[in-house]
Amino acid sequence: NRNENQAAALLAWYDQHHRELPWRVPPRDLAAGRKPDAYRVWLSEIMLQQTTVEAVKSYYARFLERWPSVMELAAADSDDIMKAWAGLGYYSRARNLKACADLVADAHGGHFPDTEEGLRALPGVGAYTAAAIAAIAFARPAVVVDGNIERVITRLFAISTPLPAAKTEIKQRVQAMLPHDRPGDFAQAMMDLGATVCTPRRPKCLLCPIKKGCEALLAGDPELYPVKAAK
Ligand code: ADE
Repeated sequence: NRNENQAAALLAWYDQHHRELPWRVPPRDLAAGRKPDAYRVWLSEIMLQQTTVEAVKSYYARFLERWPSVMELAAADSDDIMKAWAGLGYYSRARNLKACADLVADAHGGHFPDTEEGLRALPGVGAYTAAAIAAIAFARPAVVVDGNIERVITRLFAISTPLPAAKTEIKQRVQAMLPHDRPGDFAQAMMDLGATVCTPRRPKCLLCPIKKGCEALLAGDPELYPVKAAK
């Protein structure tokens, strides 16, 4: 079926063209049985919430070097965490980071919850972040939708409903495409496609692994999507 073929084409593209990111387990290592470290996935997802990949890289490296595990972060001094966060912005994230590390250390024995629901109960972990960690760290078939994925999906299915009203339909479309054997790679493949190929302006449709099924491209102009609600 169409959804399965598109998911397979996207994953094959990701195997070849995925971005090498410090917090990411490459697809070949994942396939070989290497397990992602939930602490690293969580730390990266919190940092990436309102901040670009490029800006996050050096902070992520410094945090990991200084606090290699959630137990070490929980034992850290709050002021030291705030200082290490300085420059990343949205400082409530840093306060929640410490509160979350304390909770995981004290109430969960240093182990992150491995379900979306359990993750959602942690300080600073909203619906999006819970889904991302569940999929990427624990291979749960969670529906992960960020801004990049909204763009990819509204184009693929030529969804004319404006954002944010389109979100429900976008989630249904992602749900229907989800490959249950590789949910983490699928989420990150969507992110990478949105960041490098299905860009807001001048998308590189010739390089797109799912262009054959793209309704916006078929209609002529992918840049028309996503439609934004009038202000
Ligand atoms: N943005 C948020 N999470 C991300 C991830 N895991 N990879 C790349 N970009 C992201």
